[in-house]
Amino acid sequence: MTKLTKQSTGMNTIIEEVWTQGPDSPLEVPQLHRNTWVEIYLDKIEDNIHQLKNLLPATTGLMAAVKADAYGHGTLAVARIALEAGANALVVSILEEALYLRSNGITAQILILTPINPYDVDLAIANDLSVTLIQASWIEEMRLYRRLKGNLKVHIKIDTGLGRIGLRSIGELEEITDLIKNESITMEGMYTHFATANHDDPSCYKSQYQQFVKMMNWTKEREIPIKTFHCSNTAAALKYPEDILDMVRIGVGMFGIYPSKEIQEGTSVHLNTALSFHSRILQVKKILKGEKIGYDQAYTATEDQWIATIPVGYGDGWFRCFQGFYLLVEGEIAPIVGRICMDQLMIKLPRPYPAGTKVTLIGENNGHKITLEDLANHIESVPQEIPSMITYRVPRVYYYKGVPVHIQKERTWRTEK
Ligand SMILES: Cc1ncc(COP(=O)(O)O)c(C=O)c1O
Repeated sequence: MTKLTKQSTGMNTIIEEVWTQGPDSPLEVPQLHRNTWVEIYLDKIEDNIHQLKNLLPATTGLMAAVKADAYGHGTLAVARIALEAGANALVVSILEEALYLRSNGITAQILILTPINPYDVDLAIANDLSVTLIQASWIEEMRLYRRLKGNLKVHIKIDTGLGRIGLRSIGELEEITDLIKNESITMEGMYTHFATANHDDPSCYKSQYQQFVKMMNWTKEREIPIKTFHCSNTAAALKYPEDILDMVRIGVGMFGIYPSKEIQEGTSVHLNTALSFHSRILQVKKILKGEKIGYDQAYTATEDQWIATIPVGYGDGWFRCFQGFYLLVEGEIAPIVGRICMDQLMIKLPRPYPAGTKVTLIGENNGHKITLEDLANHIESVPQEIPSMITYRVPRVYYYKGVPVHIQKERTWRTEK
């Protein structure tokens, strides 16, 4: 068994219990029970944020989007490294995510993007959380539940064309700002979100931006006290730097994902993917031509071949949509054969390998790589959907400059030790 030591890594907020041998070999790490794991490279997240911050005007703040478990990278670890790297605030989607951050000592500004239930208003006030306002009726309902006199911070969301949530007209904006005047509410921000900032064609983006500017100017002309205006996501921040307002809301860029090929080619920023996903061969068997593999006997061997079983399945977020794709073994392609099961999948090996051999689902293996873009193309989705799919069952092993610094074995809303 590997010896555990306490070792300072220079990171004061990440748990510093590290092992001295075999960082590439979680089999030897006593805390890790599974032979399937995700690696997160915190220094890459840090560097991506530094580069993105360098692009921004000195007065523009960066809000780091850590919603949906930081796109599968782990809410708390990402929030901590993002704030250390210079993020000015955090963005989450739901109240639980914000409370989880607060209960783990995060004191930075947190904006909740999805409107909370009016009956939870006191939770927002008590925990100093900023909430999103999309309709006047929320204020009327919230009054029935509000007991705390403290400051309720809101960001007014404008729907300029995404068609998801938000106010759509000056009339609605007038109604809501009039209502707010009589409440103990601080208008901390007003924002919108783009539908096509990553597209080559700028027309939809430009029309959304102009609509937002029109509504922003309307509030300024009337001296409505809104403190900050923000609209840019990663794509808009990289492609339209001239449109950046008081803050940007950065998700994919922080994790090293480019919003499009065109944006990647047009920027000097060199982002690095912050995650890889690996497992180890559980069993290898030789099957003969005509033998069948897996549920429904969906795969028939066309010749004698070597099949390996890998302990990853749709219970880990490796869904059946990855059928027809492959893993890497010793840098070589090993196609997934048959149906992906809940806990296992089978691959065809180019030659026999011993049980315990490392295989890679995302990232590098012996000089070859499976990228999030490769996987997204296979399932006709976006790269950020891939890490967001990986479930709580897969432990996250955090590295900082090559040194493993923390293992998160499960994901919960509770306070971390
Ligand atoms: C409202 C809002 N702002 C910002 C972001 C971050 O966007 P991105 O990950 O493209 O940078 C998202 C992500 O979906 C979002 O929904």
